[in-house]
Amino acid sequence: MLKVLLENCKCPRGVFGRLLAKTMNKGHAPLSRWAFSVCPPADGESVLDIGCGGGGNLLRLLKSCPSSYVMGVDYSETSVACSLRLTSKWRNRCSVICADVMNLPVDSGLFDRAVSFESVYFWPDPVIALTEIARVLKPHGKVTVVTEMSDPQKGKFWTKRCPGMTVYTPEELVSFLEKAGFSDVNVYRTHKVWCAVEGKKK
Ligand SMILES: C[S@@+](CC[C@H](N)C(=O)[O-])C[C@H]1O[C@@H](n2cnc3c(N)ncnc32)[C@H](O)[C@@H]1O
Repeated sequence: MLKVLLENCKCPRGVFGRLLAKTMNKGHAPLSRWAFSVCPPADGESVLDIGCGGGGNLLRLLKSCPSSYVMGVDYSETSVACSLRLTSKWRNRCSVICADVMNLPVDSGLFDRAVSFESVYFWPDPVIALTEIARVLKPHGKVTVVTEMSDPQKGKFWTKRCPGMTVYTPEELVSFLEKAGFSDVNVYRTHKVWCAVEGKKK
């Protein structure tokens, strides 16, 4: 059962994908609360959540920023369906689209902020993905990339079980952001190897 669930991490599908998305909403809540405490979005900002999964972070954003417009994007149809269901009461200021971070069907310069939780591990090329994210941000818009695992050695337990997963160090994440054109890059870490890397579009 655990094996099948973990095989869905890269792209949740079907019954097990739905179960995983719900499990992640609960399991990632502490990480998400911590990340929003160190990199807080301001109410009124438009926020894009990339790899939104089951929608737990969309819901947190909608509740903590009552004037914000929030968009979720995920290339898994199952994740999109779960996120749409969870945020159904907020259709007036929340949308969820099915798309790949490598090619976002979104106008340039639209968002104040982009966040991504537990998804960068699966992006085919994080620098190209972050360059695409920079494109959809307004000038001086911010991106925050959050991971629960930032030690490739300790992460072997997960990379062996989740196909297509690569664990990056905080230094690698910083370098991805800088190569994609972000400046003022800051790293936040905890003893649990949680990591949030935030940068500003030049
Ligand atoms: C481990 S889940 C994390 C979900 C959610 N952010 C959370 O913290 O609970 C990773 C999510 O990223 C999505 N994802 C992975 N690669 C993606 C890509 N290239 N474009 C869009 N979404 C992607 C997957 O479909 C999955 O829903």
